[in-house]
Amino acid sequence: MSDSKPGSGAGPRPDADVAVQTCPVSGEGGPPPVERPTVTDWRTDWDHLGPRWRDDPFPIWDKLREGPIARTERFEGAWLPTRYEDVKAIAYDTDNFTSRRVVLRHRKFEDPPLPAPPLTSDPPDHKEHKRVLLPFFTPEEVGKLEPLARRICNALIDGFIADHRCDAAQQYARHIPVRIIAYMLGVPIRDSHLFIRWIHEILEIGNVDDEINRNGIKAMRDYFRHHIALRKEGRTEADPDGPEPDLIRAMMDGSLNGVPFEENHVLGTLNLLMVAGIDTTWSAIGASILHLGRHPDDRRRLIEQPELMPTAIEELLRAYSPVTMAREVRKDVELRGCPMKKGEMVLLSFPAANRDPAVFPDADKVVLDRRENRHVAFGLGIHRCVGSNLARMELRVAIEEWLKRIPDYRVDGEVRWSDGSVRGPRILPVAFA
Ligand code: HEM
Repeated sequence: MSDSKPGSGAGPRPDADVAVQTCPVSGEGGPPPVERPTVTDWRTDWDHLGPRWRDDPFPIWDKLREGPIARTERFEGAWLPTRYEDVKAIAYDTDNFTSRRVVLRHRKFEDPPLPAPPLTSDPPDHKEHKRVLLPFFTPEEVGKLEPLARRICNALIDGFIADHRCDAAQQYARHIPVRIIAYMLGVPIRDSHLFIRWIHEILEIGNVDDEINRNGIKAMRDYFRHHIALRKEGRTEADPDGPEPDLIRAMMDGSLNGVPFEENHVLGTLNLLMVAGIDTTWSAIGASILHLGRHPDDRRRLIEQPELMPTAIEELLRAYSPVTMAREVRKDVELRGCPMKKGEMVLLSFPAANRDPAVFPDADKVVLDRRENRHVAFGLGIHRCVGSNLARMELRVAIEEWLKRIPDYRVDGEVRWSDGSVRGPRILPVAFA
């Protein structure tokens, strides 16, 4: 990778870029309520899009771990492993399980589904689809982005600290990853509110409304088409201090076996980076601020012993893992006596695996100095998260800057969690002196 400049201390002007924008969709009380039949038996009729799962999934997983792999006839037939070993076995088994569909929908309306490489790629192509991204996410490259992350966090805090209260999800957590990924992609940071809206449409309400999902994806693809066209004319709206090449340019120049990536592939990866880079980390930052707000002992301990930060970050990622992905059964296969039929879906709950007491003693407790912590918040096997270094840095910096300036705060109002396969607080009112 090039000598991208964030590490040099240059970078976007914080005040120009970090004004808090109102999201027309998720900024006003969360997604519209969706009617879903009530779950009668979680073992045979589970539904990860219902309110019980959204608000408190942990007891559900505890119960399910005791029995065979849970099944539902919703989503045209799907399975739900909740034990660590089962999630691991499926994540590694790319022969029997394909990633071509990674989100559960009530109807598999699209065949073939739109690709989002490398997430939706299988071997052997997966490796090359991933390789093009890796140089952007090394610890060294991510380290160069740290000053930018700190500036963003502080400018956000400047925006609400005098009010002695804020919505930590809406006014803080959600703005950090979106600005950084926009900078890396090479698109204007001022467009952040658009990305937030599309992600909400694709990942939350779009899970149950095909049309909203399609419109969100289309809007995002059109947006990237425009930025690709600009580059073809030798122009760009990227931050002048941003990385060179940026992620859009790297994807335009990418190839497999000497054949340039098709437009569908390039757009799919760019959409994925936007979605995967934002919602996930926003959720992790929000859940961590929520935990530290509700557990003053942990908060004080982290302030007094900052050397705990590395293990604390891993523990918060484990306990509040935001990401659940799915697989499609490629051919009939049996796992733990459960007959999984070709074409059925499997929901890979990394969050449930991370609460499995067979692997994590006191799995439901947050232990800031937990030593053995082989959590799977970033997945397992070939699809393990590309952005884990970036996510960890953003989460650490967001917590550090928050605690420096708001060491004493409390959750002050009703918390609202997201719907869908990425779980995190979307409304998080806090008050501070
Ligand atoms: C706390 C934040 C994050 C969490 C918990 C997370 C979690 C995950 C998980 C569980 C997977 C595996 C999916 C599967 O097996 O199907 C994954 C894959 C991926 N993530 Fe992340 N992610 C986070 C942040 C990011 C960021 C910041 C980026 C990039 C900007 C990113 C980009 C990706 C990509 C491109 C993949 C696909 C990798 C592949 O298929 O080989 N993620 N992530």
